[in-house]
Amino acid sequence: MTDLFDSLTVGNLTLNNRIIMAPLTRMRSQQPGNIPHALNARYYAQRASAGLIISEATQISQQGQGYPATPGIHSPEQVAGWKLVTDAVHEQGGKIFLQLWHVGRISHSSHQPENGMPVAPSAIKPTCKVFTADWKQVEYETPRALETEEIAAILQDYKTGAENAKEAGFDGVEVHGANGYLLDQFLQDGTNHRDDVYGGSIENRARFLLEAVDMAVQVWGKERVGVRLSPHGTFNDMSDSDPVALFSYVLEQLNNRAIAYVHMIEPRATSAGGSDAVTHDAPSTSQLFRRLFDGAFISAGGYTPETAKQTVADGTADAVAFGRLYIANPDLPERIQSGAALNPYNRATFYGGAEKGYTDYPTLKQEAA
Ligand code: PHB
Repeated sequence: MTDLFDSLTVGNLTLNNRIIMAPLTRMRSQQPGNIPHALNARYYAQRASAGLIISEATQISQQGQGYPATPGIHSPEQVAGWKLVTDAVHEQGGKIFLQLWHVGRISHSSHQPENGMPVAPSAIKPTCKVFTADWKQVEYETPRALETEEIAAILQDYKTGAENAKEAGFDGVEVHGANGYLLDQFLQDGTNHRDDVYGGSIENRARFLLEAVDMAVQVWGKERVGVRLSPHGTFNDMSDSDPVALFSYVLEQLNNRAIAYVHMIEPRATSAGGSDAVTHDAPSTSQLFRRLFDGAFISAGGYTPETAKQTVADGTADAVAFGRLYIANPDLPERIQSGAALNPYNRATFYGGAEKGYTDYPTLKQEAA
């Protein structure tokens, strides 16, 4: 029976265990410039015993930003800042992938170049609320539908982001295709009403995601690229008329490309961890899609140590990603392995601020001292 503490081959890497640190937005980059800094390096290094760390979602361009103080990977200063992070993680024996992010319509003109409108597959306004650059929560604006000719430049931003991630010393990249951000907006027909080659059929709606993946593969090779997806997720106002057909196609295409892993979110974790509510009757993503992908399958969303052990033991997934538990437990693998109690997390310090609720959660060793 497979154990959480058995090693795992992901692409051409060997992970020491099957506990993954999920990508977590923390809004603590240095301002101005959305630059990773020493505090972020300390936070990630504290969590280096994870089998793999996936960085917080990181915008590939100014247009790709949708929240205050999320880091980017499009300026030389950001690349230098991320180098602090990757060096600190590697010094502790860890491995870290960068998550490449474009938010699409989940933005506000205050984040955009020249205060333009956020871009999307179609001019459809999300009904939830958005954070402006000065941290106010307001209604969304109606995004501007991208022209077909604009997509090539965004794909180039994915490629540059992947190159910058390499320069910054990451071990690979994860393409963020989940949670209602740009690539997911193209995938799902609730947000994609286009009539060009990027809209309509499943093949057309999946085109942008697959082209972005191909850019990442050009830079890194297939062994160092993963993709995150969230079928049936409703966070950021998402919906699709036939998610099983759509995501089955996407998984088959990713399988043909033989990328290192897919990282799929269970929809029971309502609002992408933004709430502690659990949808008990949600369909099981891993049960629906695991068999379609031959590489490593990472599952995320509302896991406890017990359900994670079970999921890996019965082969439903190869590895499990933890988000909220990783915020509060820098030494999560050691705690799970020894059966120690877990620190509770404080939701009030998830987003923004500095050390408090970020680098001050104790390890078991610190508790014993
Ligand atoms: C968030 O900032 O709330 C956020 C970012 C990326 C996700 C999910 C949530 O995939």
